[in-house]
Amino acid sequence: MSLRILVVDDDKNSREIIQMFLSKYYTVDVAVNGVHALEMIKSNNYDVIICDFVMNDVDGMDVMREMNKMNKGAHFILITAFGTGDIAVRAIQEGAYEYLSKPFKMSKLKDLLNKLVARTDIKEQKQKNKGKDYSGHSILNTNSEVFLEILKNMARIAQTDVPVLITGESGTGKEILAKSIHEYSKRKNKSFVAVNCNAIPATLLESELFGYEKGAFTGADKPKKGYFEQAQNGSLFLDEIGDLDMELQVKLLRVLQENQVRRIGGSKDINLNVRFIFATNADLDEKLREKKFRSDLYYRLKVTELHLPPLRERKEDIIPIAEFFIQKYSSTDESIVLSDKAKKILMKHDYPGNIRELENIIRSAIILARDTGIIMPHDLDINLSDKSYTKFKKNLTRDEIVRVIRECGGNKKAAAEKLNVSRATLYRLIKKHSIEDV
Ligand SMILES: Nc1ncnc2c1ncn2[C@@H]1O[C@H](COP(=O)(O)OP(=O)(O)OP(=O)(O)O)[C@@H](O)[C@H]1O
Ligand SMILES: [Mg+2]
Repeated sequence: MSLRILVVDDDKNSREIIQMFLSKYYTVDVAVNGVHALEMIKSNNYDVIICDFVMNDVDGMDVMREMNKMNKGAHFILITAFGTGDIAVRAIQEGAYEYLSKPFKMSKLKDLLNKLVARTDIKEQKQKNKGKDYSGHSILNTNSEVFLEILKNMARIAQTDVPVLITGESGTGKEILAKSIHEYSKRKNKSFVAVNCNAIPATLLESELFGYEKGAFTGADKPKKGYFEQAQNGSLFLDEIGDLDMELQVKLLRVLQENQVRRIGGSKDINLNVRFIFATNADLDEKLREKKFRSDLYYRLKVTELHLPPLRERKEDIIPIAEFFIQKYSSTDESIVLSDKAKKILMKHDYPGNIRELENIIRSAIILARDTGIIMPHDLDINLSDKSYTKFKKNLTRDEIVRVIRECGGNKKAAAEKLNVSRATLYRLIKKHSIEDV
């Protein structure tokens, strides 16, 4: 099938590169800005619009919105700059066919168009997605293909009501993803109730989840809505679901199957309209093998799973997210940057605590780098895997530390450098050895 394509970009170079490449296969027109694009779309019938997001006049999202208003059935491919996961998700949500993050290979664009030609149900899909209103916001920062793929799935899943299971190591962003599912769904203006199944004792959890009627047990002196009911019309996020005890697992499964809940001591079933989001950092497969997790519940949860890879498997995210945290935690009037050496060290680290660990590292580094405005390697509280280095740090005696601080006239920065430890480590050592002012 031959496609009629419009390429929109106010940058002459990128516009022409795409045009030149695609003209080998398809009929290609170009528009030099958003306004021009809208005129072209109005008076022609395109199959595909490939549009840059950042343009001087009307941005790519607005072009898409205006195009949708005209009821033109073209498929929209938005081109975004790196690190704009949020925009990409919004684009999909508002009905974009795809997005490409810069820089991309022409072959990738071609694959995309091939896929598009092969799909027969696109038209219906577009009809479904059209006109979805967006007002949520999210700080999902990413620069990685893998993660963008997850966000894209998330955006699609958010449109439905199916239960979702989010898995991933600690600190990978499960909770923030759960919130995003809610924010990007039609339930966004209703409640998002988050429950950590691990933090509430099993005996209490049941009455917290199901609620109770007056007199259900000693101390139940008035009726209480449980979390299921509190999340009515909204979303319920059950975190650490792997730790739920077996008895409650049966009860939860029943709620999922019947979409009804009965308060403890109650006699009537209450209909639920709740979107369930589950998360766990436990290995559910293993729990299943150990018979600590019911297989029927397991298979029900596994239907729609979003897995968040650890940070060490998406290293391209490290620096952009670090820079995001620098912005987040520094005050508006200061500009703090990462030195190249610091970047190298950040890239080398394995982050067992994932994004939360990176967040903590940056937060304390900002405080230490405040005078210079540059984060240096010794500002980063990272245990370099170099064993001798770690050992050396541990073996520093109180006397040595006091001696060096004295030699440096009390200047902690200089002393830390001389001792070859980060300033954060020096402060910890000072505390550990109860070293008073020297
Ligand atoms: N892509 C991201 N961009 C910016 N910040 C992020 C991103 N992903 C996660 N974070 C931040 O990292 C921290 C950890 O995320 P979150 O609490 O969602 O992880 P989690 O997987 O639920 O962790 P745990 O298993 O320990 O509960 C939070 O402060 C969150 O705001
Ligand atoms: Mg969490």
